[in-house]
Amino acid sequence: TRTPVNVTVTGAAGNIGYALLFRIASGQLLGADVPVKLRLLEITPALKAAEGTAMELDDCAFPLLRGIDISDDPNVAFDGTNVALLVGARPRTKGMERGDLLEANGGIFAPQGKAINGHAADDVKILVVGNPANTNALIARAAAPDVPAERFTAMTRLDHNRAATQLAKKLGAGVEDVKKLTIWGNHSATQYPDIFHAEVAGRNAAEAVGDEKWLAEDFIPTVAKRGAAIIEARGASSAASAANAAIDHVHTWVNGTADGDWTSMGVVSDGSYGVPEGLISSFPVTTKDGSYEIVQGLEINEFSRARIDASVKELAEERDAVRALGLL
Ligand code: NAI
Repeated sequence: TRTPVNVTVTGAAGNIGYALLFRIASGQLLGADVPVKLRLLEITPALKAAEGTAMELDDCAFPLLRGIDISDDPNVAFDGTNVALLVGARPRTKGMERGDLLEANGGIFAPQGKAINGHAADDVKILVVGNPANTNALIARAAAPDVPAERFTAMTRLDHNRAATQLAKKLGAGVEDVKKLTIWGNHSATQYPDIFHAEVAGRNAAEAVGDEKWLAEDFIPTVAKRGAAIIEARGASSAASAANAAIDHVHTWVNGTADGDWTSMGVVSDGSYGVPEGLISSFPVTTKDGSYEIVQGLEINEFSRARIDASVKELAEERDAVRALGLL
């Protein structure tokens, strides 16, 4: 029998946590033959709620679930962790400045990065979901100098999946027909969903759409503002689709992208496509055997260039703000 994989989830008692943990325990994160041990990290006042979720996990009698530990200490929750899902974060409240938001999240992600550095397994893979995801990943990474930088990733898979559905609907195709879609930049309203290299049922997507106005005024804002639209409609934020995207992100990272396709991940820039080295920005990536590569050599037209640059500028500003706080 296989050794269980340790999966740590922070913010386990939150909305995404509730949508995520059952799917991990059922085998959807890593595969139907991979046993898992869950490590739940919460703040002290939420430990009781996390225990309630653990009771429900027990009650599912998942054959792959080999244990659940709950802690409010990052050093315990990240001990031996192989997959770390950093979901819990400090949300922006009304009137909060960006600096305050980044400082509050620095107080979460710097200690968690340090705990990962000191205690995680050698093969640890980290996905940051909690917003501002790219910059929180940067903060955690800076606090974990012994962990290879490429293990820190930020989630833009929800944006990717949203874009795939919007594009498929526009062209009357199925989502499974959509390939090589890219989210560039920051997981924020400045993100750029790029269909110029995408294919739908074997045809270039931008040509098949043939409507730059739709792209600029409908598709891009619909994808970028989808989170707000869900809050408006549901009265609560997108938790199930975010959890689904986290599952997809890790599953693709571990199991690989299909031939002739790629995915979108926030990863440490190596300077590709003019994105300053070291920023955690979303790129087209292919994955194989648990590692990934940024897709090289794509031609970037003027329409795309301006939008990638705008999002990357925002990331650089967030990095500078975090640096000014002494977090980098
Ligand atoms: P939530 O507020 O329901 O849950 C967050 C949980 O994190 C709470 O239970 C809280 O106690 C916990 N938490 C706070 N500080 C913590 C710490 N230091 N250690 C451990 N746990 C801590 O929020 P929800 O809906 O689950 O969302 C979580 C995050 O995911 C938010 O930052 C949200 O903006 C972000 N998000 C990111 C998306 C993406 O595409 N990257 C998509 C959707 C949400």
